[in-house]
This record gives sequence, C-alpha cells and structure tokens, in this order.
Amino acid sequence: MSHNIELLKKLSEAFGPSGYEDDVRAIIIENLKRLDTNYKIDNLGNIIISITKEKSYPTVILDAHMDEVGFLITQIDKNGFLRFEILGGIDTRILLSQKVKIKGKDNFIYGIIGAKAPHLLLPEEKSKVPHYRTLFIDIGAKSRKDALEMGVHEGSVAVFDSQFIKQNNRILGKAFDDRIGCYLLLELLEKTTDLPLNILGVFSTQEEVGLRGARALSLLMDANYAIALECTAAADTPGVPEHDVSTKLENGPAITIADRATISNPKLVRRIIRIAEENNIPYQFKGRMVGGTDASAYQYVRYGIPSVTISVPSRYIHSACSIASLSDIENTEKLVYSLLEDIAKNG
Ligand code: CO
Repeated sequence: MSHNIELLKKLSEAFGPSGYEDDVRAIIIENLKRLDTNYKIDNLGNIIISITKEKSYPTVILDAHMDEVGFLITQIDKNGFLRFEILGGIDTRILLSQKVKIKGKDNFIYGIIGAKAPHLLLPEEKSKVPHYRTLFIDIGAKSRKDALEMGVHEGSVAVFDSQFIKQNNRILGKAFDDRIGCYLLLELLEKTTDLPLNILGVFSTQEEVGLRGARALSLLMDANYAIALECTAAADTPGVPEHDVSTKLENGPAITIADRATISNPKLVRRIIRIAEENNIPYQFKGRMVGGTDASAYQYVRYGIPSVTISVPSRYIHSACSIASLSDIENTEKLVYSLLEDIAKNG
C-alpha cells in the first residue's frame, strides 16, 4: 500500500483548533472532488458525506474529527503580551518555549510561549510546573496597539507550529489526533465505492472540547454501525511500567474496548478481532480506560448504534509534535476496510 504522504503532511500542518476547523475542512473538500460525491456542511462546520447505494444495504458511520488542541487568546496586555486559555487537553509541562501560530485576518502571526525567567523564580517555584495561566504568548509586539496592528485580537486562536517530517517508516508532526483519522476516512471513502454498503462519512468539529460536533449531528443519523477513526496515545517510552503502556507503535491498530465515554459494542469488538486474525492484520487493545471519542455520540442516539473506536497509536499526542508509524496507518486502513467488507457481506 502506498501512502499519500503529501496529503498526510497537508492535513497535519493545517490550522484547525476546535471551532476553527476551516482550513482542514477546505483540504478535505478539495480531496472529496476525486470521489465525485455530495456533501453537506452543518452550522457547526461538520462535513457529512452520505453515500447511499441501496436502501437495503447496511449503513455504516465512519467518523474522524478535524479539530486539534490549541489556544484561545483571551487578553492582550498593554505591553503586547497575550494571555490564553487552552482548547482541549494539553499537558502544561510541554508548553514552555513552544512556537505557536495565531491566525490573523490574512496571515499567521508567530509567537513563543513564555514564562518568568528562571533566575527570577522563587525557590518553591523552581520545582513546580507553572500553571498555564501564569504563561503568556510573546509575538514580539511592543504594545497592545502593536499586537492589534499585527492582526491579533481577543478571540484569536492558535495552534502549535510544527513541520511534518517523514523519517524512515515513521512520521513526526502535530495534530495526528485526528488528522490521521481524517486521512484514513478519505482513503476509505474512496476504497469502499464498490462495496454493497451505504456510508455516512463524518468529518466532525470540536471533538477535543467534548465531542460537540458529533453530538449535535448524531441526532440526525441512523446507521447499523458507527466507527470512530482515531489516533490514540502510545506510551512505549522509557520509564513507563508495562501495565501502563496503553498502546505501542508498530503493534497495529488499537481497538478500544472501553474508554471514559463509551463501552464499545462487545459483539462488534469480537468481530473486529476475528477479522484481524483471519486477515493476518496485527492489532492491539487500547490498554487504559482513558479518553473519549465521537463513538460515544453515536452510541447514545436512536436505539444505540453499535459503536467502536479504532485508533492509530501515536506518541506525544496533544503536544507540539507526535510520532506515528506508517505501518500502523496502513494496518488500520486494512482492518477497517476488512470490517466494512464483512459488514457489506453479512450485515
Ligand atoms: Co482524537
């Protein structure tokens, strides 16, 4: 299987914090052209692709979220420093000195997350991670007026500024959660055109702040199954005890049995395991019951659509730069495709 590295790079580098997914949406719409399919965009910005071939065919929701964790500028002080809130979950330990990009009217404004200089810290502050509310973004502005003229205002949003890199079989970059899911969804929409299956493709918004896009949308959806295509935390790094290693790179797609928001449909989970084994596709379970995905939005509508999350493992998600493996992406695509084939055949 060959990867469309250019598309992965584009999606990873695109600007799209929760609620401001416009640039990601534009890339996806551009890529939907090759499918020649209709789509709708709702008021929350969700993209809904409805491929109905025959009413009698089973219908599957395939979901990936477009948003990434980011920052919301809440105040600009008289010296031009920006205060911010965090959109989604970001570990405060990784914020210091990160480069961020803020969306201006027609351009990006770049800044650094700054903190009080180390030699000014009180002894008790030295061993502590500073709370994000004590941090600020420095865009090199001389004053509030200067910052405003540069194009930043209260309500501006920002993301980490990271370049996508392919290195051997691995990729480094930001927003793999969930641009890898978006990539897989685009691939699968194309590859399933010949299957006797109806597909509801959803590129959702505001997942990182509480599955908000999918929640609103799911009320209008009806399907036999729902699959959230995700990117989940890998913890195969130094210092982590084996029982805490949620997932590992190169061990294949991670199947969620349960997380904080959903207990995956057990029958569907068993079915996925059987399909993986029959097709010699490596797989692993997400080993810790943490997080929550759009799968939960679909499980609590209608009569409870049987739902599951299948994820590509990635180290350092929700940070400035993550690492994932191309072989995991490939195997995730294979597994989901094989599942869809099985549903097309057996309902
Ligand atoms: Co995610």
